[in-house]
Order: sequence, then C-alpha cells, then structure tokens
Amino acid sequence: MPNNLTVIVLAAGGGTRMRSKTMKVLHEVGGRSMVGHVLMAVRALEPQSLVAVVGNQREQVGPHIRGYAPDVVLAVQEILDGTGGAVRVAVAAAAPVGTVLVVTGDTPLLEGESLKAFAAEHEAAERAVSILSGVLDDPFGYGRIVRDSDGDVEAIVEEKDATARQREIREISSGILAFNAEFLVAALPRLGNDNAKGEFYLTDVVRLARDAGLTVGAHPIADVVQTQGANDRAQLAELGREMNRRQLNRWMREGVTIMDPATTWVDADVRLAPDVTLLPGTQLLGATVVGEDAVIGPDTTLKDCEIGAGARIVRTHGELAVIGEEATVGPFSYLRPGTRLGARGKIGAFVEVKNSEIGDGAKVPHLSYVGDAEIGAGANIGAGTIFANYDGTAKHRTTIGPGANTGSNNTFIAPVTVGEGAMTGGGTVVREDVPPGALAVSAGPQRTLEGHAERRRTAAVDPGVAPTDADAGESSSDR
Ligand code: UD1
Ligand code: CA
Repeated sequence: MPNNLTVIVLAAGGGTRMRSKTMKVLHEVGGRSMVGHVLMAVRALEPQSLVAVVGNQREQVGPHIRGYAPDVVLAVQEILDGTGGAVRVAVAAAAPVGTVLVVTGDTPLLEGESLKAFAAEHEAAERAVSILSGVLDDPFGYGRIVRDSDGDVEAIVEEKDATARQREIREISSGILAFNAEFLVAALPRLGNDNAKGEFYLTDVVRLARDAGLTVGAHPIADVVQTQGANDRAQLAELGREMNRRQLNRWMREGVTIMDPATTWVDADVRLAPDVTLLPGTQLLGATVVGEDAVIGPDTTLKDCEIGAGARIVRTHGELAVIGEEATVGPFSYLRPGTRLGARGKIGAFVEVKNSEIGDGAKVPHLSYVGDAEIGAGANIGAGTIFANYDGTAKHRTTIGPGANTGSNNTFIAPVTVGEGAMTGGGTVVREDVPPGALAVSAGPQRTLEGHAERRRTAAVDPGVAPTDADAGESSSDR
C-alpha cells in the first residue's frame, strides 16, 4: 500500500551513560539489538522511505541497520549536536513529503501496532506535530509535556532545562514524534541550541508550531513501557526483564508450559510449538526453534538450536545443534556447533559432541567426546569413548556404520571407518578400518600374576621380603 510516510530512526548518539565501547543502540535486549527491535517495529508501517541517522561508530551501526532494512537510506550526522541536528541530516537526505515519523533507536519494547495507531491518529487529526506520550511514576530523565490551562500541548521541556515545578509533570515525551513534512522542513533551520545541553532539540519544534498557531497534540499510550528508553545498563536490564516477561506471556497464551517464568529466558527470535514444556533455569537464545511436546530443562541453555518434537533435553548447554524428534539429551551434555542427532537418538551424561552426525536411534550414552564423526543409524557407542579427530595439525573424520556396537573406553584415531554392524572390544584403540560385521580388539592378552598383590602387601610391612624381578617390572608399569 503506497503511503506518504517517511520514518526517521535516530541512531547516531554514542550513549555516554552506557559507559561502553559498544554503541548504545547495538546493546541487546532479548537477543536482539535495541535498534533491531525498533526496525522490526517500523516494518509494520511499510513506510515509503526509511532513513536512519548514524554517527558514532557508523562503520558498525550502518551495516547492522542495513541487515534489518536493506532499503534504508543512511544519513550521516557528522557532529552530534542533538536530536534536531540528527533530523536535519535525515531530512536533507530524504526530502520527505506527507508525514514524517521520528523514532529513537533506544526504545526496544515499542510495537509496530502502536506506531501504526499513532501515525494514523496523527494523520486523521491533521496536526503539525503529534507526540507519543506516556504517564510515568518516575519521569526522571525524560522530556516533560507542558500543557496550557486548556490542556493543549505548549512545549516539551527536557529534564535538564525543566523548572522544579515542570519536573513534577509525569506526562513524558517518548521521543517518538510525528510531523507534517512541510512544516518540519520549514521549522528545522529555526531551531536554536540555547539550552542546558547546548544541543539542537527536536522537541523544540513543538514550541515553533505553537507560535505559528498550528495544532500540536500528545497521544498518551496506555502501555507506557513500550516508550521506555535504555540510557544506562540498569535500564537495559530492566527492559530486558520486561521484554522477557512479555515473550513468556505470549508463549504461555500460545500453549507453552513454563513452570517458572522467573528463571526462564526466551529471546525475541525464538519459536516454540504448542505443548512445549520449559522447566526452571532454561534459556532459549538466538533463533532457537522447539517442536511440539518437547521438554527442555531444568538448567539448560540452547542458542540457535533446532529441537525436534517430543525431544527431551536435560541440563544441557548447546549451540547450533539440531536434535531429532523424540531424541534425548543430557543430563550434563555439551552440544557444540554442527551437532546433529537423529530421531530417537541419545546423547547421554557427560558427552561432548562437535560437528558430528549421529543417526536415527543411534546412542552415545556416557562420558564421551564425539568430534568430526558420522555415526550410523542404530549404532551404539560404548561408555568413555574418544573420537580422536586432531593429529596436532589437521582434523579428520571418523565413520561408524549403521548398527555398529563399539566397546567401552575406545579411541578412534581419525581418519578411520568402522563398517556396518561391526563390533569393537573394550579398550580398543581403533587405528585401522574395521570391515562390516567384523570384531576389532587391540588390547594385548591379559597377564595374571598369581600371588603378586599378596607379596606386595607383605613387602610393604616387612622390607626384608623382596618382590621378584618379574613382580618389580609389573608393579612399576602398574603405577
Ligand atoms: C530524548 C528526548 C526526550 C525524550 C527521550 C525519550 C530530545 C531533545 N529529547 O532524550 O524528550 O523524553 O528522548 O527517550 O529529543 N541521537 C542522535 N543524534 C544526536 C543525539 C541523539 O541520533 O545528536 C539519537 C540517539 O542515538 C538516540 C536518540 O537520538 O537513539 C535519543 O537520544 P538520547 O540522547 O537518548 O535522548 P534523551 O536524552 O533520552
Ligand atoms: Ca534516550
């Protein structure tokens, strides 16, 4: 639907109050940058043109923004002289007509629907300026909405410029403003910077509109949290907690069981099917996807993982792993990137897996390291097995055939292949390929020295009884 809407996203400020080498708008809330959330919300408006103002660290911020909005026009604010200065460079880059909506880059809870309602209300009222406002218990730090005796908006006064009386006003400007483009373009050059910060405040456009006899309105949003910005780390954590609370409520409404919302964290890009159960201490991060009936937790962190329907993941740390339907993982498993477990497969206690495919119904139940391996369907790997994938220079792969059954405490020296249905004995160091259906053993025959243990004990008590030469040889290698 073509519209006359230009959206300007402000993202040039460094965010000194964050005390960070990372730009404020790149700080994450719910696994996504603050400006990323804002850009996702802006998408709902389908604006005719989108301009982002970048300044500090624009080499990072510019491409980051383009990742969310490929058609964005990036306008550079060379000198950070305030929100008014930022909008000046945006207007110069975009030459807007119709409606201009200015959105700050640090309000991650803002929803697309709220922006849509605000823009529609602004256009219907045919105002010069509309302010998305909110009533806060603690308005500290925000621009206050000053109204005249008729209740009409007179000005926005910034915290630092406000009188003690004005500071008591609890209606604040969210920093999200809508303008008639023609009026904005004419007003911007007239902004001054005679204020506490010595900056060009975009908010002063309100007074210019009033002086010109034009209409200004503030549209208070009921869900005021959406307009909250994060200026420091404490506010960032607060917004993160609020975003998480909102995500969890949404998933519970959609049929996900969350036993303890207070200790469960779900990032904004995670997708969960109905009847998933999340147990206490679960963190689902990045683009993790969980299928129906799967049970995750307790105490599990999964980042960018894909978990099949009906799978069970207990006390596990995983990243970029794909787990099949009805498979089981944990407790105490470490899934590294490239792990793929087939349907009904098992990765058991104290098992680390990296860049390996474990087939349908295959099992690695106990105490093992599986690196760069392919384990066929239905194979069973004995307890305490190491896939020795690294020869000190390069990584190599191990292939275990379908239905193979390997003994406990094996070492597979890659590259090596164990054929379909083959077996290996306990303690085997597999250096050579094992053909299908064969048994490989590498441990030597067992030597049993009758009476040796008894003689040692006696020698310890009475040094006069010396062990035999043969005994001495055995005991030194036993140590
Ligand atoms: C701003 C508003 C304030 C409002 C508050 C809401 C002004 C003067 N003040 O204050 O009324 O209540 O937001 O959160 O507009 N930016 C630039 N270039 C600059 C300065 C800032 O692009 O030169 C960007 C920042 O990156 C940020 C946004 O503008 O995304 C707001 O800047 P910030 O410094 O956070 O303004 P506040 O002091 O919070
Ligand atoms: Ca701010």
